Amino acid sequence: MCSLELVAARGDPTALVYARLFAQYPQMEALFVRDVNCAVRGNMLAEVITALLDFVDANNYGGNFMRAEIVNHEHLGVPPQHFGAFFTTLRDVFANILGAEWTPNIDAAWAELLARIDGVLLEKSA
Ligand code: HEM
Repeated sequence: MCSLELVAARGDPTALVYARLFAQYPQMEALFVRDVNCAVRGNMLAEVITALLDFVDANNYGGNFMRAEIVNHEHLGVPPQHFGAFFTTLRDVFANILGAEWTPNIDAAWAELLARIDGVLLEKSA
């Protein structure tokens, strides 16, 4: 079972993910001004996870999507250098949720994934 399935079995992690993001970057909470019922936060997380699943598999769109969203988010007020922080926040929250179930193998897989994402985010658009 992959780490995402283990996390999902513990319930919806959305609130924990954004609580940690806003604890680390308090200025980012205000950017969600239009998100009055947290639906945008939830949808953003769903889109991130769907893109991650594609990225680690066939990468039909995941890497390009992540890179494209840097530009969209710059218009929202998210500095490009902070955009990738969301993935690290996800890893940290998932590790906390899983506790002892977060194995060295899972940790290594996420470290490799985060390094690959860093590489993709730094690529120049064609
Ligand atoms: C620290 C990092 C990030 C911050 C602070 C952030 C912030 C935001 C904000 C404020 C919105 C709402 C925009 C609105 O009011 O319409 C949003 C939406 C969205 N974000 Fe992010 N974002 C981050 C990272 C990411 C990443 C890494 C991805 C995907 C790779 C992503 C994908 C999306 C998508 C698809 C939406 C649209 C959701 C919808 O309208 O339903 N975001 N983001």
